[in-house]
Amino acid sequence: METTTTDTLIGITNLSKYFGTFQALKDVSLSVAPGERVVVCGPSGSGKSTLIRCINRLEKHEKGQIIVDGIELTDTRESLDKVRANVGMVFQQFNLFPHLTVLENLTLGPKRVFKISEKEARERALGYLERVRIADQADKYPRQLSGGQQQRVAIARSLCMEPRILLFDEPTSALDPEMINEVLDVMTELANSGITMICVTHEMGFARRVADKMVFMDQGEIVEISDAKSFFTAPKSDRCKDFLQKILSH
Ligand SMILES: Nc1ncnc2c1ncn2[C@@H]1O[C@H](COP(=O)(O)OP(=O)(O)OP(=O)(O)O)[C@@H](O)[C@H]1O
Ligand SMILES: [Mg+2]
Repeated sequence: METTTTDTLIGITNLSKYFGTFQALKDVSLSVAPGERVVVCGPSGSGKSTLIRCINRLEKHEKGQIIVDGIELTDTRESLDKVRANVGMVFQQFNLFPHLTVLENLTLGPKRVFKISEKEARERALGYLERVRIADQADKYPRQLSGGQQQRVAIARSLCMEPRILLFDEPTSALDPEMINEVLDVMTELANSGITMICVTHEMGFARRVADKMVFMDQGEIVEISDAKSFFTAPKSDRCKDFLQKILSH
């Protein structure tokens, strides 16, 4: 089991999560250091989304502890404000506001949360749109963009809040195959920029390239945690071997 040290940005200890009587997470422990890149994989229903949703408090856990940047996740205002400021999330389905332009999607959060001016918010937004190579689309509406472009906008929107931690929940699995790489390229660049990332993804090429730590889940448990090299060359458990065999033979 992993231990929490002072060099821990996210410390999860003996976490359990129930939906009614169904236990979706079973005694999960994981620590993430500042700047670490973690990739989470595992079969459908194994609890991957539930785990990362607990980290930004979209789901509440019943047992165990999650500490993000020194603050335990609870229902207090301080805890919620801190986690929202620190942790950004990118979803499979982009979740952009359809009635707002790309630029408006990006300036909304910073204006509300940081009370910055329209001008400052626009400058910040254009900077991040540049970074995901889509600044020329700033005045379009989400429906006028391809899936890959929408996902890059969603990543830029998260970056506008300048989080220390970015969570990705299968960000490329709703995309047509030819658009997957443009999003993975942006994620790879982010990974190299030093931001702490936890990515749920089955893109194993990406995982090999960027992951410092691989986490394999099955049936609500973390079955295996290892560095990327040992994960791909010498998985320890049969469940993980089976999973890798299936996914890599695709
Ligand atoms: N809101 C909910 N209410 C009840 N059960 C839920 C809820 N959310 C998730 N579950 C259940 O918890 C388990 C874990 O779900 P989760 O979405 O975390 O899996 P996952 O590993 O992300 O799967 P996938 O690869 O399909 O996205 C599943 O059995 C799921 O049906
Ligand atoms: Mg999921």
